[in-house]
Amino acid sequence: WQVIKPKDPSKPPEVFHWLPIIGSAIQYGNDPINFFLKCREKYGDVFTFVLFGRKMVVALGPKGNNFVTGGKVSQLSAEEAYTHLTTPVFGKDVVYDVPNEVLMEQKKFVKFGLSIDNFRAYVGMIEEEVENYMNADPGFRVWQMNDINEWGSFHAFKTFAEITILTASRTLQGKEVRNSLDKTFAQRYHDLDGGFTPINFLFPNLPLESYKKRDRAQKEMSDFYVDLIQERRAGKSTDAEHDIISALMSQHYKDGRVLSDREIAHIMIALLMAGQHTSSTTGTWTILHLADKPEVAEALYQEQVEHFGLGEFGNFRPITYEELKTLPILDAVIRETLRLHPPIHSIIRKVVDDVPVPPSLSAPSKDGVYVVPKGYFVLSSPAVSQVDPKVWHNARKWDPSRWTDPEGFAAQAYKTYADEKGEKVDYGFGAVSKGTESPYQPFGAGRHRCIGEQFAYLQIGTIIATIIRKVELRLEGEFPAHNYHTMITTPKDPCNIVYRRRHFD
Ligand code: HEM
Repeated sequence: WQVIKPKDPSKPPEVFHWLPIIGSAIQYGNDPINFFLKCREKYGDVFTFVLFGRKMVVALGPKGNNFVTGGKVSQLSAEEAYTHLTTPVFGKDVVYDVPNEVLMEQKKFVKFGLSIDNFRAYVGMIEEEVENYMNADPGFRVWQMNDINEWGSFHAFKTFAEITILTASRTLQGKEVRNSLDKTFAQRYHDLDGGFTPINFLFPNLPLESYKKRDRAQKEMSDFYVDLIQERRAGKSTDAEHDIISALMSQHYKDGRVLSDREIAHIMIALLMAGQHTSSTTGTWTILHLADKPEVAEALYQEQVEHFGLGEFGNFRPITYEELKTLPILDAVIRETLRLHPPIHSIIRKVVDDVPVPPSLSAPSKDGVYVVPKGYFVLSSPAVSQVDPKVWHNARKWDPSRWTDPEGFAAQAYKTYADEKGEKVDYGFGAVSKGTESPYQPFGAGRHRCIGEQFAYLQIGTIIATIIRKVELRLEGEFPAHNYHTMITTPKDPCNIVYRRRHFD
């Protein structure tokens, strides 16, 4: 569909608000999903709201997803939408600080490092890190609990934040980063992370201490990576095997230029930030659901026993990457968790050239068409299409069986939807559909689609499997609500889980 000259163009309807400039920031900030659903009832799938002076055009549903993630680079720009947030954190010359075609090349360099060969090496490393954590962490010392009737308790989010950074640094980031984690690196990471918040997104320059700390941490972190790259180049370190630093050091741009040490440093910081919160919250929500539904946790445990059990004393053989991809229940619990809790609720682009809204998505009249003017932002929200009752049976229910049993009740609505659209639904490991019009897009779609999906499944899957082999889980209290005040949707406190060592006779 293409409009050459829109007939009767007009702007999408604007959501009513009392507060000038601030607009609907409070409603959006507190609960974007409910805010969008309420606006949809009143205005339909496309509407504009004001966010601290910015005009945000929300496009809902699968067609809205397509409008934003399938947009043309000449009309919709991710770098214009995100750079003021990301460049002070990642550093110069990477990701959104470069033209789109350079980002595409940089994504290709990282993908080179996310190879099957490296993935094979990562599974064992992650298993080892998790086992060490469970033995050593005071809140999670499984083997010290001799009495099998003794229940312990851990904070799900804190635990997953720690395990995620331990495992990501051991694998993607490399040994030098892993070995520095309990030293200065952790503090720098913390300060940098303090600059990656919705406040930083809304107000790029404020004279606040946290902004100064962010800038200092960025410089120190960048120097840390540059030093370690130079040590590797000088041959002093042999720790270069399976990590992304090593992959990036071997790559060059189309014009033959190799990546500078600074660019590698900044890409590594970008990967650290892109993977940490997304994976740690997904792991957290997954384990919270398993604790809430012991029967699913038990099925998951039995899947482990069936594939890896050695028959006595709860002994298991190590997981391999190839086998990890053949575990339907493990895959489904992560996939279903990402449906209800996609870490990124808003995918945003800045409009750099007037863009017409396809009439099939929304139009003011039979002959008219909406046009989103240059300078506005467009926003899609997979978090809305992923719970749309038109596409999902029992849309708000966490039911992993919708992915393991394509003939079952829970799967039917999505299957019918996909059949009608001629969309291929892949019930294998990871990706469901890569289409920009898919209602299921926890990893985005189109040219800005995530490259970390397979690693995330590998990481979260191995962590969950390693934990579930050792302990039984129960939820303490109510299932936590969403906290939308963070960049990535996190669970509100309290989010404690009680656990006890498995009983093996
Ligand atoms: C992009 C989600 C893990 C690296 C994205 C996008 C989403 C997403 C929704 C698209 C953003 C947009 O279009 O504006 C997730 C989720 C993850 C995850 C749910 C885990 C559960 C990771 C990991 C890495 C990573 C582990 C790195 C190893 C990236 C990169 C992009 C991206 C490089 C591309 C940005 C672009 O092209 O503009 N991710 N991500 N992600 N993600 Fe992830």
